[in-house]
Amino acid sequence: MVRPEPVGTRILGIETSCDETAAAIVEDGRRVHSSVVSSQVDLHARFGGVVPELASRAHVELITAVIAEALIEAGVLDVGELDAVAACHGPGLAGALLVGVSAAKALALATGLPYVQVNHLEAHLYAAWLEEPDLEPPLAVLVVSGGHTMLVIMEGHGRYRVLGQTVDDAAGEAFDKVARFLGLGYPGGPAIDQLAVAADPDAVAFPRAMLDGGYDFSFSGLKTAVVNHVRRNPAVAVADIAASFQEAVVDVLVTKLTAAADEAGASTLVLGGGVAANSRLRTRLLDAAETTGRRVLLPPLALCTDNGAMIAATAWWRLRADGPTPLDAGADPGLRLPSVA
Ligand code: KG4
Ligand code: ZN
Repeated sequence: MVRPEPVGTRILGIETSCDETAAAIVEDGRRVHSSVVSSQVDLHARFGGVVPELASRAHVELITAVIAEALIEAGVLDVGELDAVAACHGPGLAGALLVGVSAAKALALATGLPYVQVNHLEAHLYAAWLEEPDLEPPLAVLVVSGGHTMLVIMEGHGRYRVLGQTVDDAAGEAFDKVARFLGLGYPGGPAIDQLAVAADPDAVAFPRAMLDGGYDFSFSGLKTAVVNHVRRNPAVAVADIAASFQEAVVDVLVTKLTAAADEAGASTLVLGGGVAANSRLRTRLLDAAETTGRRVLLPPLALCTDNGAMIAATAWWRLRADGPTPLDAGADPGLRLPSVA
């Protein structure tokens, strides 16, 4: 008789904090059995950014089908076969978060499974552990997306030292705003990335804000510098502007991440968030790591951008550390990453 493989702890993770409706089944915080992401980019593109009310409504319409697909892909016939249900409860858009939290709590209530609430920022850090379950902390992690720019030293599970964050625009937000100004569409990051490949990154020496000033970031001055430069020089090649802007952002990100790793004695650098897809950032980080003998973890894009697998993986660690979350817990749009210092 062939015995079925023993299964570990399988968790359903739900993510609805912004404009992706996502669900995944992950075993023991590392084996991804399924991961379904339904992006709303097309819905928001004509507005040039995410419209919160539209996002909430789209989550309501999509959530049941996305969860069903995640279960089917993982070969799970009934949610009750799983071991826990998790959802991202913040930070994010209030109405959007509530859709995922309510869905997870309803499933937990109906099945008697434990519910686990997950911090979205912590989940971005755990995306790297999904790829490499045997990472050795401390890790120097840079989370760069449309909503966050954060430099974190992960000293161990649940132990984070937040060294710096953006004081104004997030890195992805700067890419999107500059792309919109240059007429390149939304989301702007990929458009700038592509256009910059064959252009001159030294064409314009845009400012590198706060380069030597600690670990915080500021990108709104750079955006204004691009606008002013184009207004003064209307004939300038758009591709050269895109490449020079991108180089200024990447310079700051790589310099601060490696300086943070130096200070923390971290031998591994980790990138997360949508901007981690940027080809120039990836290349420059690999070069910087090679010259200093460090390891770099560049998770695949599907794990960098918002997804349910990172929620399910984090929930596995949180369930072991804190136990289940009471069902009267709600969403927390302004949630921060707990910092040890
Ligand atoms: O993590 P993400 O999917 O969602 C948020 O939590 O915001 O990140 C989206 C951001 C957008 O601002 C987008 O322009 C940026 O990631 N992005 C990029 C690239 N691909 C996506 N930025 C620069 N270069 C790229 N290749
Ligand atoms: Zn995110």
